[in-house]
Amino acid sequence: MMKDKKLDGDFLTTNHGQKVNHTDDSLKAGPRGPIIMDDHHFREKMMHFDHERIPERVVHARGAGAYGYFQVYESLHDYTSATFLQDPSKVTKVFVRFSTVVGSRGSADTVRDVRGFATKFYTDEGNFDLVGNNMPVFFIQDAIKFPDLVHAIKPEPDREIPQASAAHDAFWDFVSLMPESMHMIMWVLSDRALPRSYSMMEGFGVHTFRFVNSNGKSHFVKFHWKPIAGISSLVWDECQKIAGKEPDFNRKDLWEAIEMGSYPEFELGVQILPEEDEFKYGFDILDATKIWPEELIPVRLIGKMTLNENPTDFFAETEQIAFHPGHLVTGIDFSNDPLLQGRLFSYLDTQLTRLGGPNFQEIPINKPIVEVNNNQRDGFMRQKVAKRPVNYFPNSRGNGCPMMAGREDMGYIHYPQEISGNKVRERAEGFKDHYSQATLFWNSMSDIEKQHIIEAAWFEWGKVEDTGIKERLVYHFAHINDSLATKVAEGIGVRVPNDGEMEEIRTNLDRIDKIWKDKRR
Ligand code: HEM
Repeated sequence: MMKDKKLDGDFLTTNHGQKVNHTDDSLKAGPRGPIIMDDHHFREKMMHFDHERIPERVVHARGAGAYGYFQVYESLHDYTSATFLQDPSKVTKVFVRFSTVVGSRGSADTVRDVRGFATKFYTDEGNFDLVGNNMPVFFIQDAIKFPDLVHAIKPEPDREIPQASAAHDAFWDFVSLMPESMHMIMWVLSDRALPRSYSMMEGFGVHTFRFVNSNGKSHFVKFHWKPIAGISSLVWDECQKIAGKEPDFNRKDLWEAIEMGSYPEFELGVQILPEEDEFKYGFDILDATKIWPEELIPVRLIGKMTLNENPTDFFAETEQIAFHPGHLVTGIDFSNDPLLQGRLFSYLDTQLTRLGGPNFQEIPINKPIVEVNNNQRDGFMRQKVAKRPVNYFPNSRGNGCPMMAGREDMGYIHYPQEISGNKVRERAEGFKDHYSQATLFWNSMSDIEKQHIIEAAWFEWGKVEDTGIKERLVYHFAHINDSLATKVAEGIGVRVPNDGEMEEIRTNLDRIDKIWKDKRR
């Protein structure tokens, strides 16, 4: 008989390395008898299968990933000492995971949703994670609202529907009482929420970060990804059909583009703001519901990322990767953005459960390319065999810290920002304008894009059962643009409240706002 090379390849083994001779029948007492306890191969195989599933991400559960590399165009030493941003000849490996936010792991790609755009740079100073989205702003200003936002946007708690969209009362109820969401809602109802391809959408770090140069000088910075293929979206009708016919549309597109050698490429851009200009503009730079208009603070393109390799094991790589906005390298630091600050707690905390204990950083996809050396020990699933029998600090056994060795200049040092203030649950004044930038966004749209936003509101809000919610939403739109509010109101069968009613709604919202403010005191 001809030998088929593929059938004759690597042999299966048990988990302890014994070659498996036969894996199609369990070991039985006779061909028709019961399975016997001796069948260790059966028990091992079944035990492992029984435990294959891990919890999906609490948000961004559905994703697709790829490896690639990044190169800076020219040194950014004036602004940052980050080593991967100094030398155009330096190639930094990356892994990117794109995702939808609301749906579960098995949901369709072409839903109306925000897309995650998370990049892990494996730099020679440790991992830097840029955990962004495809929209430059966010729904809320303070991380303490995130559990409420996600509860409201995920399926209703009693019926677990809808699976992957915001088209239900809970979400719109929440939004109608959270004017700070309005700018983000404009983006979500726009074509930006329906990317044709992951390689044709922008990415944004959203928050304000800091660049710090080797002289300790700091600038505020916002990160952008600009797709070289340009920005392109689907239209809603296409999305609905594709969701039925090809639910893996974006995932498949990414995979096939890379297999064909048509590599997705993105330029990294930065908006840089000198510290002295922190209060120069009419918005608060710490507010994640605001953009920095590019006409005021231009985006400088600083480098290019190319995605050129598909993962070989979706679970091991794309599912087990653990991004964290706190994974920084020297030369990049945080700002006081209260949304960012809350994220710093949330990711590590959730990954502890999702990835089964405190050692998930040892999973190959999460490991930095530099050596990890610290005094953390033990815990479930520890892989690493510590090099030295030293697990405390200070010690005189050669496991030190640059500071102790008189090298105060080495290692990561946070920007020594001065901090003072009273302990309060309050927001800064600059955070309280919720409509100006939503109007700016609306005004920047072409006629057809405006029509798409109106139709999206008809679709989403048309499903809302409670008229009060619809009216409140229209009221917010009336603050953004009159004709937008009128057209949406007509399409969903509510009147744009007249001046008297507007006043009443406004008073109610003011009352809610006042209750909030009083509570925050
Ligand atoms: C994923 C929390 C805001 C982008 C996640 C996860 C959590 C989380 C718990 C799951 C992580 C995991 O299981 O590994 C939060 C909180 C936020 C917030 C508490 C606000 C307070 C944002 C914002 C952005 C963002 C503003 C964009 C700038 C992402 C992305 C992922 C993610 C891209 C998926 C990462 C991946 O592909 O593994 N977030 N998030 N999140 N978040 Fe956030």
